[in-house]
Amino acid sequence: MSYDRPDHHTRKAKAQGFAARSVFKLEELDQRFRLARPGASAVDLGCFPGSWSRYLIQKQMKVVGVDLKAPAFGGATWITRSVMEVEAEELLAIVGPVALFVSDMAPNTSGNRFTDHMRQIALAERALALAETCLQPGGAFVAKVFDGEEANTFVKSIEARFRTCKRVKPDATRDRSVEFFVVGTGFTGGPAKGAESTGPA
Ligand SMILES: C[S@@+](CC[C@H](N)C(=O)[O-])C[C@H]1O[C@@H](n2cnc3c(N)ncnc32)[C@H](O)[C@@H]1O
Repeated sequence: MSYDRPDHHTRKAKAQGFAARSVFKLEELDQRFRLARPGASAVDLGCFPGSWSRYLIQKQMKVVGVDLKAPAFGGATWITRSVMEVEAEELLAIVGPVALFVSDMAPNTSGNRFTDHMRQIALAERALALAETCLQPGGAFVAKVFDGEEANTFVKSIEARFRTCKRVKPDATRDRSVEFFVVGTGFTGGPAKGAESTGPA
C-alpha cells in the first residue's frame, strides 16, 4: 500500500475545507489541552499549506504563520521565509504577546534517520527560542519532534519552562511515523539563570 494513499483523515480534512490531514492532530491536542483562546494571538511555524492556521483562525485567534511558502488564503499574516531568518521582535510587532506557539515544521527528509532527527530538533529548538521571547506568562507551546537521541533533552527544556509538559502521539499521526508532539502549558518565563547548568559552578 502506498504511504501517500488518501486515508480517512485526508478525505475528512478535504471535506471540511482543510488543506492537510494534520489539522486533526492540532484539533486533538486542542481538545485535550484547551490551547486555542478566542481573541488571543497565535504563531504557527511551518504553516503551509495552512490547515493549522485555518483551524486557529476559525477559533478566532489572531494568527501569524511562518513557512517557506504562503498558504493561499487570507485572515492571517504570512511570513514567507525560513524560521531561521525570523526574529521574535518581528512576530511581536505583528501580533503582540502570544498565547499559543505551535510548530508542525518538518525538514525535507534525507532518508538518514539520524540526520533527519537532528534537522528536526534544530527546527524545534528554533521554535522554542522564538517562543521564549514571544509567549506571555501562562502561554502554551506545541512542537513536532522526530523521536531520537536528542528528543529527551528537548523535552526537558520544555519541562524547565512550562508548568506542565506532555509527549503526545495524536491518533491522526500515521502508525509508522517517528513523530510525536511536545506540549507545554503554563509558560513560566524560563528557568532561573544557571538552573540548566550541568557543570560545576
Ligand atoms: C507538515 S508541514 C506543515 C503542515 C501544516 N501544519 C498544516 O497543517 O497545513 C511542514 C512544513 O514545515 C515547513 N518548514 C520546513 N523547514 C522550515 C523552515 N526552516 N522554516 C519554515 N518552515 C519550514 C515546510 O515548508 C512544510 O510546509
